[in-house]
Amino acid sequence: MPGATTLIRDIGTLVTGDPELGEGPLGVIRRAALLIEDGHVAWAGPAARAPAADTAHEAGGRACLPGFVDSHSHLVFAGDRTEEFNARMSGRAYTAGGIRTTVAATRAASDAELAATLDRYVREALRQGTTTLETKSGYGLTAREEARALRIAAERLEEVTYLGAHVVAPEYAGTDADVARYVDLVTGPMLDACAPHARWVDVFCERGAFDGDQARAVLTAGMARGLKPRVHANQLSHGPGVQLAVELGAASADHCTHLTDADVAALADGDTVATLLPGCEFSTRAEYPDARRLLDAGVTVALSTDCNPGSSFTSSMPFCIAVAVREMGMTPDEALWSATAGGAAALRREDVGRLRPGARADLMLLDAPSHVHLAYRPGVPLVTDVWQRGARVVH
Ligand code: NIG
Ligand code: FE
Repeated sequence: MPGATTLIRDIGTLVTGDPELGEGPLGVIRRAALLIEDGHVAWAGPAARAPAADTAHEAGGRACLPGFVDSHSHLVFAGDRTEEFNARMSGRAYTAGGIRTTVAATRAASDAELAATLDRYVREALRQGTTTLETKSGYGLTAREEARALRIAAERLEEVTYLGAHVVAPEYAGTDADVARYVDLVTGPMLDACAPHARWVDVFCERGAFDGDQARAVLTAGMARGLKPRVHANQLSHGPGVQLAVELGAASADHCTHLTDADVAALADGDTVATLLPGCEFSTRAEYPDARRLLDAGVTVALSTDCNPGSSFTSSMPFCIAVAVREMGMTPDEALWSATAGGAAALRREDVGRLRPGARADLMLLDAPSHVHLAYRPGVPLVTDVWQRGARVVH
């Protein structure tokens, strides 16, 4: 019913994400209430001052948080890489080469299979509190296959990224001239087919994938077609990705595991968010990125899952928060901010990631009195209820 209001009452700890509404950078209000109207937050404040509403939902003293904003995933895929994971846990290293296993399986899958897999993981993420989810192409690597992946993603999600430059397609992996022809495809006919379905352009700038010059060509071609840049940068080694991302004004440099002091300074001076993906280091048994170093330098940090069948097969933002707190030097407050408002910054979104009047009513209740329990009780499914655009979609 348009104009109908719902009041969430008896919230133990409300994280608004707006320092003007409550304590600290998270804008925390104890003993709070929140009013939803027309899919948006109409009011948030102390329970004692709550307005009247058409219906009420009792939170029973539980914590209420903004829905997670997972700004980095790769969910248009088919097949499985259990064996690769198993081998890695027996000592083999992660390389970009495994991506081609998923490319072969994805090309062989029907549209319906790809859509069903994507729906399954979007729902899985939603049950764990993720209300905004970005996803990418990158397992097709032909104009037709990349456009198919993006069309299927765009039918379901708002934040869709063209990653034709994930790795060089197997048909072009040979001489430098072959690779140059693949970059011409990615910046030419493949871009023509993909640009109508995507908001973002991304490139895996890494040894074994694309070098700095190739990455620049991919990003600037996408930008000329109206796509906004984001970069897989400095995941497996030092390289030009982070500096390129900042120079081009990319919304986000993702991974940021191997950083020089100059990389950190560039991020601190620019407005590119550093998106850290702890599931990836967990699942590749690699060294975690140093979130403390970035935060202390004044860099805006986001946390995301990087959910994909190769390097990080988790859709769980609570898991990423727990690892970031335990292993990456983040406080529980910083990790929650990075998983909500930080993710929104990485997608250049103002309407999600915070619970302030006018924001989308994307939020969750935890079976716990505060958000600190996400790290304090790792692995426990604490999310009990999720609202997306004001509708209670998980309960
Ligand atoms: O972000 N780094 C490149 N792409 C993915 C891995 C994809 C895969 O291994 O299938 C990542 O980790
Ligand atoms: Fe990724």
